[in-house]
Amino acid sequence: MTTQTSLRNASANHAATNGSTVNVDDLVSAKGTGTGPADSSVPVATVTPPNAPTPATPPSTGPAAPALDMPTLMQFLGKMVTELGAAATAPLTLLGDQLGLYKAIAKAGAVTSETLAQATETNERYIREWLANQAAAGYITYDGASETFHLTPEQEAVFVEEGSPCYLGGAFYSFVSLFADQPRLVEAFRTGEGISWGNHHSCLFCGVEKFFRPTYASHLVQDWIPSIEGADEKLRAGAKAADVGCGHGASTILMAQAYPDSHFYGYDFHEPSIRAARAAAKKAGVTNVTFEVATAQDFPGSGYDFVTFFDCLHDMGDPVGAAARVNEALTDDGSWMIVEPMAGDSLEDNLNPVSRLYYAYSTQICTPSALSQDGGHSLGAQAGPKRMKAIVSEGGFGKFRKASDTPFNLIYEARK
Ligand SMILES: C[S@@+](CC[C@H](N)C(=O)[O-])C[C@H]1O[C@@H](n2cnc3c(N)ncnc32)[C@H](O)[C@@H]1O
Repeated sequence: MTTQTSLRNASANHAATNGSTVNVDDLVSAKGTGTGPADSSVPVATVTPPNAPTPATPPSTGPAAPALDMPTLMQFLGKMVTELGAAATAPLTLLGDQLGLYKAIAKAGAVTSETLAQATETNERYIREWLANQAAAGYITYDGASETFHLTPEQEAVFVEEGSPCYLGGAFYSFVSLFADQPRLVEAFRTGEGISWGNHHSCLFCGVEKFFRPTYASHLVQDWIPSIEGADEKLRAGAKAADVGCGHGASTILMAQAYPDSHFYGYDFHEPSIRAARAAAKKAGVTNVTFEVATAQDFPGSGYDFVTFFDCLHDMGDPVGAAARVNEALTDDGSWMIVEPMAGDSLEDNLNPVSRLYYAYSTQICTPSALSQDGGHSLGAQAGPKRMKAIVSEGGFGKFRKASDTPFNLIYEARK
């Protein structure tokens, strides 16, 4: 079993058992609406789930109602209570990152609401409620004996250490855009029209960078480039490289810093992202990068030794056109590294927590993006290796293989 498979299974098991952390049997009986000991074959009409309205009319005399399995129902309701809590907590987790609350807890070691409010110049009453929510979520830890809150090393890795591949604090920024853009999506579902990348709430652009950057910082130079035949050697010696669909340029700048003798051209069709990438490069003091507005289908230049696409090929309406353009722009011995979200080829392969997250982004961002472009494709974020290979081959590439992976990413290598 690969690390990735075991992690995905472990996550799936966690998700499957997570529901039992809330015992809805207890919830039901505590409210006096329970049906007593679980009966595994209770007809639907006789069951009163918590908070269910009383039916206005008696059950119909039509076909027999399907039986409800009470333990299964209780387990599912328990899972849904956990889901509701996670969804409602998400804005507060974002706020914890924005206000530096997690960092301040880590710095202090242990806090009360008073000391945390003082350290972060925030209001104690709000902080007290936030701490309670976060402790109930299991995102921070409450110590009843000392009446203080602290972060375990694992909680710190996820919420504080921005350089850690486990850091997830950045993931919450894009959720602002998911909710802000939701009415537009309702309309898109009705009309079938796309939503272009630039038409999303601006939190999406920095959110994507914040979500992906920690992974790139941990794997790109260390694992992914060395997994592409000859790429590390060429870049060390001094090569010409293009990072297409570069967004805010996180990957481009990391590569430019690691390979100072090479020059990296970052292209993206979203002008505000290119402006942000230029500013980031300036701030980082990196001079061997050039950022330009261009589409993947007609980015300028030729004679590239190395071309990269990070999490963007599936967002394009014409991925075949993009592949063809890369083929044309590469040297004969050049290579194309395509980083895509982890995915299997079938839906069955993808019914797990990681794919769930990606399908959520795919439905709200990636598929609308592709549908807003010319080309007729809308791969979605869970395209899988077979479909990717077909696209790349249609674009004229003779060789395609999986070069590396992480629990969240698939890294492909394509050559002429
Ligand atoms: C999910 S973001 C990834 C950004 C960046 N590569 C990263 O990993 O942080 C997808 C990017 O692809 C860009 N994009 C989508 N379609 C494009 C196209 N046809 N040509 C150029 N850029 C495109 C978007 O503007 C966006 O910046």
